[in-house]
Amino acid sequence: MVEIASTKRYSECKLLLSWPGFIFLVRFATICLTLASLVLFGDLQKSLSGHQIRAAFNENDSPQTQNAVPSTQRDAVPSNEEEGRAAVHHASSPKHYYKSYPGLANETSIACGGHKATSCDQCPQGHGASWCNGDCEWSHGACARSSKLEHIHPDYFRIIQRYAFQPVKNNNGEYVNIILVRSPFREVDDEDVYLFYKDDIIFLGISSFESFPLESPNPYSHSDRGKIMEEKYLNLFPGFLHMMRDPEDHFPQNVERILMSQSDFMLDAPEKFGQEHANDEKIYDFVYSGGDQDVETDCVGWASYNKNFSFVRDALEVMCSSEFNVTGVLVANKNKDGTKACTIPAICHGKIVQTTFLGQKEFFGYLAKARWAFLPQVCDASPRVSTQAMAMNLPLLMNRNIMGGWKYLVPGQTGEFFHDMSDFKDSLRIILDNTRGENSPYKPLEFVKDNYGNANSGKRLFEFVKKHWGNRIKFPEGTSELLPTGA
Ligand SMILES: *[C@@H]1O[C@H](CO)[C@@H](O)[C@H](O)[C@H]1NC(C)=O
Ligand SMILES: *[C@@H]1O[C@H](CO)[C@@H](O)[C@H](O)[C@H]1NC(C)=O
Ligand SMILES: *[C@@H]1O[C@H](CO)[C@@H](O)[C@H](O)[C@H]1NC(C)=O
Repeated sequence: MVEIASTKRYSECKLLLSWPGFIFLVRFATICLTLASLVLFGDLQKSLSGHQIRAAFNENDSPQTQNAVPSTQRDAVPSNEEEGRAAVHHASSPKHYYKSYPGLANETSIACGGHKATSCDQCPQGHGASWCNGDCEWSHGACARSSKLEHIHPDYFRIIQRYAFQPVKNNNGEYVNIILVRSPFREVDDEDVYLFYKDDIIFLGISSFESFPLESPNPYSHSDRGKIMEEKYLNLFPGFLHMMRDPEDHFPQNVERILMSQSDFMLDAPEKFGQEHANDEKIYDFVYSGGDQDVETDCVGWASYNKNFSFVRDALEVMCSSEFNVTGVLVANKNKDGTKACTIPAICHGKIVQTTFLGQKEFFGYLAKARWAFLPQVCDASPRVSTQAMAMNLPLLMNRNIMGGWKYLVPGQTGEFFHDMSDFKDSLRIILDNTRGENSPYKPLEFVKDNYGNANSGKRLFEFVKKHWGNRIKFPEGTSELLPTGA
């Protein structure tokens, strides 16, 4: 019932604002004059219900916009006036008649402030303006879509509820009409949702999860597997924020691409933390972040594979030896209660600290007390830890085979690479000698400030989108950076 009522309101609103609506008014006036002598004006008003008016209007004038939307979809037309107005505004092209993907229409994902609803006009529940916040705002006595959201598709928030879809904001914290696809589709109808909205929202791929869009080599992965899947994602979106050294070997020509990862962004917090803790005593050589390791199975499993923990065990034999006497921290290497830790070489006891999964601040706390970050992983498209450590002025000891994040490492300037066990000792020796003394040659903070962070990467992403899809999108006023958020 609610849906029908709101459809009616939307149609009426549209009727009055549109050119055919004007014609209708003229016609209505003519009918009134003709019948005036026979029927009282009040009776005529009563007899012509809203439905009859619209029915007559549809039959006689049949504007394309009315028929452009199948009736099943018309039921899902926005249920508040703000959305209605936005849709009418778009309706200069009949194609832009706003409609919802049927499976999304009933989702209670509109944020009202403290609670959620299927649409803004469902937010107040009799409580008025105080229950109308979040994505909505109180206007002319009703709860309507926030005017701050006029640049994005009305279903934007419904779509980003799904893991694969990630929102984008501008430098002022406003959402823009772009959604990043960061992993293979998960829900059965994710692909249908994408296909339904792809002309009205700009969807771009982003490498973030496992080796997406490439096939995951992780044997514990639950993602869709196989070359066919890989080819599908490589050619599905008009553009891709990727991590590859050789993108031309993978993407078809028609896909616009930019070397850019989630880990290029949001480095202010670690930088600030680093400044505040610049005088902390360095008590560890390295920190290794294990994501959330598979402690119950002794660090064998999906997360441990991603962070190459099997290699860490071999490397520890070398690092803990009396030749190097390395001290370090293995983060997320203990279960939540701190009662069980992954096994490490006996030689490391007293030299290596193992922690439970840490919050951001605690993690930064360990980085501030360390000389460098250890990134032995291969299967990682966007290693956040690398840029976080660099923003705290820590260089990296990094696996040369890493899928993403290799671009942050300039040997001698931001850290050292190794390939495997054969050259690990050499690289370890170099970074230890360079960082244990007073005058480190590395300038990782300078490097990330010059090349990454929101100011640099946000601007580059904005230019990339403007260049290729500028004709398809309107940005909120004052937009100068685009920032992937919510990851
Ligand atoms: C949405 O809700 C309406 C009213 O309860 C119902 O008739 C319709 O089938 C629902 N649509 C979907 C896709 O679940
Ligand atoms: C490592 O520590 C052991 C025992 O404390 C010591 O004998 C050895 O000289 C140290 N090696 C280096 C390279 O500092
Ligand atoms: C770990 O690193 C080594 C050395 O580069 C590599 O040979 C191995 O394939 C990696 N394993 C995983 C699971 O990433």
